[in-house]
Amino acid sequence: MDVMSQASPDQTAHPGGTGVGASPGEEPLLRLRGISKHFGAVQALYGVDLDLPKGQVTALCGDNGAGKSVLTKSIAGIHQVDEGEIWWEGRRVHIRNPKDSAALGIETVYQDLALADNLDIVQNMFLGRERLQRGLLDEDSMERAAKETLASLRVTTVRSIRQPVATLSGGQRQAVAVAKAVMWNSKLVMLDEPTAALGVAQTRMVLDLILRLKDHGLAVMVISHNLNDVFEVADRIAVLRLGRMVAQDSISAFDRQSVVDYMTTGVSSRAVKGPSADGGRN
Ligand SMILES: Nc1ncnc2c1ncn2[C@@H]1O[C@H](COP(=O)(O)OP(=O)(O)OP(=O)(O)O)[C@@H](O)[C@H]1O
Ligand SMILES: [Mg+2]
Repeated sequence: MDVMSQASPDQTAHPGGTGVGASPGEEPLLRLRGISKHFGAVQALYGVDLDLPKGQVTALCGDNGAGKSVLTKSIAGIHQVDEGEIWWEGRRVHIRNPKDSAALGIETVYQDLALADNLDIVQNMFLGRERLQRGLLDEDSMERAAKETLASLRVTTVRSIRQPVATLSGGQRQAVAVAKAVMWNSKLVMLDEPTAALGVAQTRMVLDLILRLKDHGLAVMVISHNLNDVFEVADRIAVLRLGRMVAQDSISAFDRQSVVDYMTTGVSSRAVKGPSADGGRN
């Protein structure tokens, strides 16, 4: 596979660095080291380190313009990084485009969702990857798979999987986008502000879905400005400020005020157990 072609011959090799908050000794699914990205005169990311362990939800926090979406899009292959290393399951990889990212098992759910309004749920879930049988669309098999995936995520409020996505609520749309990620056997799902436009009940549904992705053993990265959501679903928190990773640790190392402190000033005197070895390194 192209993205693996540059894998290190020494598969146990690590980039130097102490696990940034992942359990010691366990290789995170995705490990970023020293990621930098600029757009013209704007430096969006400065030497960012990030670990995304499987079976855990990592919340990426930061003020407007901190670099959260640029970091997400770099992992998704929409942006190419200027510098830095990307390690996947312990191997060095290069993500040059969205195809490379998808081939690794990375799915991104963007705030605008990128669903096609005029298509129904099944058509959206299989868009670009339709199942064929003797040259014809295999509607039965696609419908079955879509139904099973939604059921496995306990998405029960959708009346018909043949209804156009335009007729769904915001939370249901989000559920379809997440289910699509699950159906394609993703290993990492990244959600950029999944609850920003949602009401209370819909937010509840999306948070439950995030917890179920984690139960399925996936690594989840969620961007949210809502600290209630963050503290409800996250196992780990990473805070970006002006393009630098200023704190990264398990959730127990933070309280709401310390996250706000890191987001706004880059430091906090309230850290519950103090930043991890390199949590404030950048
Ligand atoms: N395509 C681009 N071209 C030029 N500059 C960009 C581009 N995308 C992002 N930037 C800049 O990079 C910086 C980080 O932007 P980013 O979108 O990652 O912020 P964010 O943390 O996602 O903020 P928000 O919470 O508002 O979504 C900003 O200064 C932004 O203006
Ligand atoms: Mg953003």
